[in-house]
Amino acid sequence: MARHLITSAIPYINGIKHLGNLIGSQLPADLYARFQRGRGNEVLFLCATDEHGTPAELAAAKANKPVAEFCAEMHDVQADIAKRFALSFDHFGRSSSPQNHALTQHFAGKLEEAGLISEVSDKQVYSNTDGRFLPDRYIEGTCPNCGYDKARGDQCENCTKQLNPVDLIDPRSAISGSTDLEVRETKHLHLRQSALRDELDAWIDSKSDWPVLTTSIAKKWLHDGDGLRDRGITRDLDWGIPVRKGDADWPGMEGKVFYVWFDAPIEYIACAGEWADATGNDWERWWRTDKGADDVRYTQFMGKDNVPFHTLSFPATILGSGEPWKLVDYIKSFNFLNYDGGQFSTSQGRGVFMDQALSLLPADYWRWWLLSHAPESSDAEFTWENFQQSVNKDLADVLGNFVSRITKFCRSKFGEAVPAAGDYGEQELALIADLTTRIRAYEGYMDAMEVRKSAQELRAIWVAGNEYLQSAAPWVTFKTDPDRAAAQVRLGLNLIRLYAVLSAPFIPNASADMLAAMQTEDTAWPDDVAASLSTLVGGHAFTVPEVLFAKITDEQRDDWQERFAGVRD
Ligand code: 2FM
Ligand code: ZN
Repeated sequence: MARHLITSAIPYINGIKHLGNLIGSQLPADLYARFQRGRGNEVLFLCATDEHGTPAELAAAKANKPVAEFCAEMHDVQADIAKRFALSFDHFGRSSSPQNHALTQHFAGKLEEAGLISEVSDKQVYSNTDGRFLPDRYIEGTCPNCGYDKARGDQCENCTKQLNPVDLIDPRSAISGSTDLEVRETKHLHLRQSALRDELDAWIDSKSDWPVLTTSIAKKWLHDGDGLRDRGITRDLDWGIPVRKGDADWPGMEGKVFYVWFDAPIEYIACAGEWADATGNDWERWWRTDKGADDVRYTQFMGKDNVPFHTLSFPATILGSGEPWKLVDYIKSFNFLNYDGGQFSTSQGRGVFMDQALSLLPADYWRWWLLSHAPESSDAEFTWENFQQSVNKDLADVLGNFVSRITKFCRSKFGEAVPAAGDYGEQELALIADLTTRIRAYEGYMDAMEVRKSAQELRAIWVAGNEYLQSAAPWVTFKTDPDRAAAQVRLGLNLIRLYAVLSAPFIPNASADMLAAMQTEDTAWPDDVAASLSTLVGGHAFTVPEVLFAKITDEQRDDWQERFAGVRD
């Protein structure tokens, strides 16, 4: 039995995620976790909320809540939505957990011992009114290049010029609008990533099987310009993990916290600790190569914007510690999903957010569309027409219709139990051969995390059943040869169980409904397709399920398109 450690990029705490975020990491990670479990492998699937940093502080201030309270509440909101989307995390942790505090401070101590931390004096803008240092993007002013009056300290949105906050004309705080700003000297820790450049380069080179999207981004950062830069890993903020070396104080760093991108990936490890503390399991056998993790296969899922942090910064932390931590084996990254002619935007509330999606339709409808249109080789676009078409054709016409036809026909002619008479003949054997080829291909795509191809193959497997039913036509056969019709129907009912097993990673709720209708808990993977299609034997009772998937009407489609055209309030 193989062992799979699977993590999804951990979503920021500030606000509910949109469908673009979902398909960029959590959903494909869930697909893979469910598939590996379905094949009988051991899986530890982890995710968490990413709770530190200025955006969290500002969102809390906007909600008029202390930041710790805001994060605790938003964590529960995100956990609940994840559950309703059937995301099957073994643990949904928090980067603010005591376990992550301890581990982040531990890593910093080890990096310092290894001579990989330097102390650097920086000049940074301080707002007297806000009583805090301002990160570059929270300083606004007039662009010296184009005159745009809402340019940010890191970049002008209007002319795209990269800026320094000191370049801005009439700078002000983006938090309070105050112009009472001054430049102050402040000391920060830098991680000397450049010292690890060759090691990282060799490690990336060894990953010849990684998606090009992943390695090309890593290589660009390693070799562009002056190459891998050292990176500040501390900030002058209140909310975050206090800067310490392991258990000891860090002189001169009092009142400072680690940068959110330093502690967030460490939460992948700490999250296993949270899981272990909650369940009594052993987390080190998943994360320490000296404690059994060397036979673990570790896969990370993320959007392309997260790739540099996972291919360079986090590995630098792990390698630099000199300790036997597990390094990632495979990084599956995604392009972006756009929304109806523009971009999804959290700040502008544009697009469909996870809670809104669930208020329109159950999770499986969204899961199917998103996964079958995953932005793998390029950016993808959500349109309501496409969503309607895909749900109505794939889910309602192909899969739903198959289940409904066969169960209703059986009920009307043989009653609500699998008919025993007749044997599978040539036509059934041909179908089994075809399905065997397709199922092996499906397994190959799923193992390789080729999400779109997996969806296409699964759909083809559903179509094969429909075509069989159409040409076998038990409703015709029944008139002249009822035993033959019985065998055809028995195969059809077994196909429903088989489809439930194969489709569970994509549409887990419909899959559970199909199994419940077939009154079976046998979810054995079809290593032998012929045997699998003889699981339900004569006399086994079943029920006709409710409509599995309702069609989306043109009125609904138009209504939703209009409702989501504007911005979320
Ligand atoms: O882009 C994001 O949503 C980040 N919160 C991802 C962090 S992933 C990791 F480093 F933990
Ligand atoms: Zn400009």
